[in-house]
Amino acid sequence: MKREEILGWLRATDENQLEALWQQADEVRRQNVGDEVYLRGLIEISNYCARSCGYCGLRLENKEVERYRMSDEEIISCAQEGVEYGYGTVVLQAGEDYGISTERVTNLVRRIKEETPLAVTLSLGEREDHELLAWKEAGADRYLLRFETSNRALYDKIHPPLPGRVSDRFALLRRMRDMGYEIGSGVMIGIPGQSYEDLANDIEMFRTLDLDMIGVGPYISHPLTPLGDPEKLPPLPEGEQVPTGELMTYKTVALARLVCPKSNIPSTSALATLNKAKGRELGLCRGANIVMPNLSPQKYRAQYEIYPSKACIDETAAECRSCMRGRIHSIGRTVGQGRGDSPNLSKEG
Ligand code: 5AD
Ligand code: FES
Repeated sequence: MKREEILGWLRATDENQLEALWQQADEVRRQNVGDEVYLRGLIEISNYCARSCGYCGLRLENKEVERYRMSDEEIISCAQEGVEYGYGTVVLQAGEDYGISTERVTNLVRRIKEETPLAVTLSLGEREDHELLAWKEAGADRYLLRFETSNRALYDKIHPPLPGRVSDRFALLRRMRDMGYEIGSGVMIGIPGQSYEDLANDIEMFRTLDLDMIGVGPYISHPLTPLGDPEKLPPLPEGEQVPTGELMTYKTVALARLVCPKSNIPSTSALATLNKAKGRELGLCRGANIVMPNLSPQKYRAQYEIYPSKACIDETAAECRSCMRGRIHSIGRTVGQGRGDSPNLSKEG
C-alpha cells in the first residue's frame, strides 16, 4: 500500500467509504492468520518505574501511585492459572523497574519454561543487551517494546532518557530480533503533537521493522502527567493533529493489518477502555487477531494505572477469561489453541 493511500485512509471520515477498509482488513486477517483469536495472559509484575515518560501514569515523578512488586510465588501462580485457562502465552510486564534484578527475571523465565508449556513474552522497557541475552537464554520467546512515535523530535520531548543513556528503540528492537526474540512494537494514537504524516510514517515503520506483533491504542490523557496538562505540550492545529479516539485506532489497526498481513495484532485494553461494550470486538473485526486478558491479581490492578479508567480494573482473572471467550464467540471466531507463534516469523519457512 502506497503512502498516499495510507494518508487518505487516515483522513477519511465517510462511514460508507470506511466500511470498505474494515472489510478489506477483515478479509486479509482471515486469509493470513485465520479465525483463531489467541489469548495472551498479561501479568503486571511491578508498577515501579525509573523513567519519566510524559504520558504515563507510572512515571517516576508520580508520587500518588502506590507501588507494588509481585513475589515470585505470586507470578508463578498467575502463570499456572494461565495454563488452566488454556492460554498459550504469558506476558510479564512492568515499568522499567531495576528493583527486579536481571537474575530474578532470568530465574522466573526459566521456572515458567520448566514448569509450564507457555510461551513467555517480556515487556520490561528498554533494557541492556546482556540482560536481554540472559533472558533469551533462559527461554524467553518474545519481547514487546512500543516505539510510541517515529517522529524523533516528538519522541525526545516525551521520553527523557536515563542519565548518560541514549534511547533508540528501533536499534534495540533490531538487536532483539537478532538475539532470536519475536519482536512486538507499536504506537499510541493521538499523542499531542502527532501529525497525520507522523502516523503514516509509524505505519510504514511497522513494515520496515517487519514486526511479529503490532500493538496500537488510543492515547488517553492522564491528569498526573505533563502531557495531561495541554499547556505543557499543546497539540498541533486542528487538521494536522491526529485526534485520539476509537475511530483513529480502528483505522490504524486495519492499516497495520494491510501493510503487515501476517503479524499478530492485538485488540488492546486502551481500545476496550474507550468502548467497554464493543471496543474489543470491533478491533477483532477490523484486523486484530489477539487479545490479552489480564491475569494480574485483582488487588494490584487499580495500581497499574498507566492511564485512567483502564478496562478490567474490577474483574478477576477468571472473569476476564470468560469475558474474553464470550466476546470472541459472539463474533463467530474461535479461541486459538497453543502458543500462537508469529505467522510472520515462519513465513519464509
Ligand atoms: N494512554 C494510552 N496508552 C498509554 N501507554 C502508556 N501511557 C498511556 C496513555 N496515557 C501505553 C504505551 C506503553 C504501553 C504499555 O501503554 O504505549 O508502551
Ligand atoms: Fe477483563 Fe472483559 S476481559 S472484564
